[in-house]
Amino acid sequence: MIDNKFLITKLEEEHALTEEEFVTLLTEITEEDQEYLRVRAQTIARKCFGNKIYTRGLIEFTNYCKNDCYYCGIRRSNSEVIRYRLTDEEILNCCKTGYDLGFRTFVLQGGEDGSYSDEDITRLIKRIKSLYPDCAITLSIGEKSYESYRMYYEAGADRYLLRHETANEKHYSKLHPEKMSLQNRKRCLKDLKEIGFQVGAGFMVGSPYQTIEHIAADLLFLKAITPQMIGIGPFIPHHQTPFADQKQGKLELTLTLISILRLMFTSALIPATTALGTIDPKGRELGILAGANVLMPNLSPTTVRKQYELYDNKICTGDEAAECRFCLDRKMKNIGYELCVDRGDYKLMC
Ligand code: SAM
Ligand code: FES
Repeated sequence: MIDNKFLITKLEEEHALTEEEFVTLLTEITEEDQEYLRVRAQTIARKCFGNKIYTRGLIEFTNYCKNDCYYCGIRRSNSEVIRYRLTDEEILNCCKTGYDLGFRTFVLQGGEDGSYSDEDITRLIKRIKSLYPDCAITLSIGEKSYESYRMYYEAGADRYLLRHETANEKHYSKLHPEKMSLQNRKRCLKDLKEIGFQVGAGFMVGSPYQTIEHIAADLLFLKAITPQMIGIGPFIPHHQTPFADQKQGKLELTLTLISILRLMFTSALIPATTALGTIDPKGRELGILAGANVLMPNLSPTTVRKQYELYDNKICTGDEAAECRFCLDRKMKNIGYELCVDRGDYKLMC
């Protein structure tokens, strides 16, 4: 009989397990263990952050992408997507709406759209920073050179989200075309960290061909690079991709992993993602109760939301930014938390 409580206690005390121990914990976990783990993770999140949830306003500013990730609805080969790019003015309007609603971080996310030069991106960062000097800017625009990242940082960008997707080479090659490499993804994360960004990594839970061993390797990879932000969410198939018929990731496993991550990285910024809210109407609340401490509602204009469909049935595509904000306010109040007006930078909290 394997004592998972022992492993959970060890994880809480040492913030790490061996690969073998992670595999054991994830394979043998019972409902009772899951509940124990969840309570431990929630207790730590409460101790570190109180009942405060950080929010980030997500602006999906382009759905053009030169990449062809097999899982992603906006991949280059999906000729049925109606492509869009927001103008600088439209992006600044999103920021204004967001600022008035209490957001103090803007996340500029998009496909890898080659039509933006580094100068375009730096100009945009500078314009946002001059209008909202008290706000943080997070970029999530994929793999770039060291030099490009450095230009963005010097222009005022504070954070960068780049999920590693999977730490296993073979698995990576099953999710991406040959042209993309895990090595380059890792190089990007290393560069971003070296330059001084607060960095976010992460992976999809239940992506096609993923095994428990892969997840254990993901956890160890995260431990090695110690990102300030960690984004995980269930894989959800998109009907116009090669993975249309694959199974979606599981809610329970995603929640268990959020709790494990909280025990490993007590002060990290961990979102309850939109994908989690998509597979279960209470997904984001459950994510917070499992130890997450960030929400990233959408600030993109409703006219384009449907076109940034990475996976089927993505939620909130018809709602105005204000509706989303108030809806999340209510949802959080219902479970005893509140959204705070704060940049929500990474700090060593506990
Ligand atoms: N282009 C940037 C990049 O590659 O980092 C940012 C945009 S990318 C669409 C953001 C994240 O969406 C990816 O890192 C991936 O983990 C997630 N994603 C893409 N397709 C998904 C799907 N079918 N289900 C769940 N998450 C997905
Ligand atoms: Fe471009 Fe996934 S294929 S973000």
